[in-house]
Amino acid sequence: MSAFIVLGAQWGDEGKGKMTDYLAEEADVVVRFQGGNNAGHTVEVGDKQYKLHLIPSGILYEDKLNVIGNGVVLDPKAMFEEIEYLENLGVKVTPEKLLISDRAQLIMPYHRALDGAKEKVRGKNDIGTTGKGIGPCYTDKAERSGIRVCDLMHKEVFKEKLKENIADKNAVLSKIYDMDTFDFDAIYEQYINYADRMKAFVADASVRVYNEIKQGKKVLFEGAQGNLLDIDYGTYPFVTSSSTIAGGVCTGAGIGPTMINSAIGIAKAYTTRVGKGPFPTELFDSMGEHIRDKGHEYGVTTGRARRCGWLDTVILKSAARVSGLTSFAVTKIDTLAGIDKIKVCVGYEINGEIIDYVPASLEDLAICKPIYEEFDGWDNSIEIARTYDEIPDNAKIYLKRIEELTDTKISIVSVGPRRDQTIVVSEI
Ligand code: GDP
Ligand code: IMO
Ligand code: MG
Repeated sequence: MSAFIVLGAQWGDEGKGKMTDYLAEEADVVVRFQGGNNAGHTVEVGDKQYKLHLIPSGILYEDKLNVIGNGVVLDPKAMFEEIEYLENLGVKVTPEKLLISDRAQLIMPYHRALDGAKEKVRGKNDIGTTGKGIGPCYTDKAERSGIRVCDLMHKEVFKEKLKENIADKNAVLSKIYDMDTFDFDAIYEQYINYADRMKAFVADASVRVYNEIKQGKKVLFEGAQGNLLDIDYGTYPFVTSSSTIAGGVCTGAGIGPTMINSAIGIAKAYTTRVGKGPFPTELFDSMGEHIRDKGHEYGVTTGRARRCGWLDTVILKSAARVSGLTSFAVTKIDTLAGIDKIKVCVGYEINGEIIDYVPASLEDLAICKPIYEEFDGWDNSIEIARTYDEIPDNAKIYLKRIEELTDTKISIVSVGPRRDQTIVVSEI
């Protein structure tokens, strides 16, 4: 039995796409279990770059099964655009390669509209969402008015549910947000067209993934977003609306915890965040700008500049704890090359006390002062390292200390965006 999880250990964009692609070589099945097209996962293979949002990163291989699990919120428009993008790049997306859970929730055009409307009303307290309708879709799921893929497969059921939702959403959009309303017929036609195109891909994902594991196949669960964007353990309300932690795999793919062997947390060698919310180690000076420029820290989904700061091991400890991480993969260590002195946050000072966990209250987090340790830097030769021995000594000291501080081993070090720039340090 072999199933393992790849999760973001910070605020997203840690390099999950790259690591999933790398690890997928060994896997038979790649499963997305939460989030939607708010994710932006970049994979570089040779001189080609692929940007994936909703489709699992295993799609780039000819022979892997990719699964969109029940915990995902699926925008059919975005999905077909992504399929077209991939096919234009020569990547085939067939029902043999992609399976969509019949229990996944559908993102509807009114979800996107409500996402924007709510952000506008929040004004200066906006979350900085990706605007893809993620929050409103998960709201409907929890409120039990959502429309699932299986509903779309039954035209009459879909018609009824759409009618009820359109009436409700149009009232909210026009009366509360003073916005344009949606036309039932136009959405119905559009989605029935999607239904016809989607049918061949739809099945019970839990049954299929369970059977694959039982038959001895290797299954990789690809997380989106990251630990601190989790709906429960993130910096609420500046989070996404799904369970981004290991527990999300069980509910979002319909697989029990006893079937999962390991969980790898992907951690950037520094920290970034897009959107609003607290960020204790954020750098507002030229060092922050330097890291942003060197690391090309601009969002894949929205193009927004990412906020940059030093590595925060308090955050990594939290990720290791809530997801039971068996190891970390540290990415973008090459981005720090050339910096003379590199800092790492090892704890927070709050009201004269030292803590090593992320407090629930944002008011408390806002007054946490990072306690730093300082490390000597390394040079750009790290980009061409292909074995652990070839990594500069100072970078080894940095990595060792991360292991000590988080009490979690590092299994992989990534020294560049390409597949071949990946060093396996210890067993995964
Ligand atoms: P994800 O959302 O976690 O999949 O990450 P993103 O794709 O949003 O952002 C990570 C970016 O860093 C992508 O452009 C990757 O190609 C790139 N990347 C991943 N690993 C490395 C690395 O080790 N070094 C460098 N320089 N870039 C990397
Ligand atoms: P990947 O998978 C980084 C952030 C948004 C915003 C908050 C809520 O590429 O790591 P949402 O649209 O989900 O309601 O936005 O979450 N966010 C991400 N930040 N990487 C992501 O995905 C993100 N997905 C959402 O910027 O702050
Ligand atoms: Mg990303």
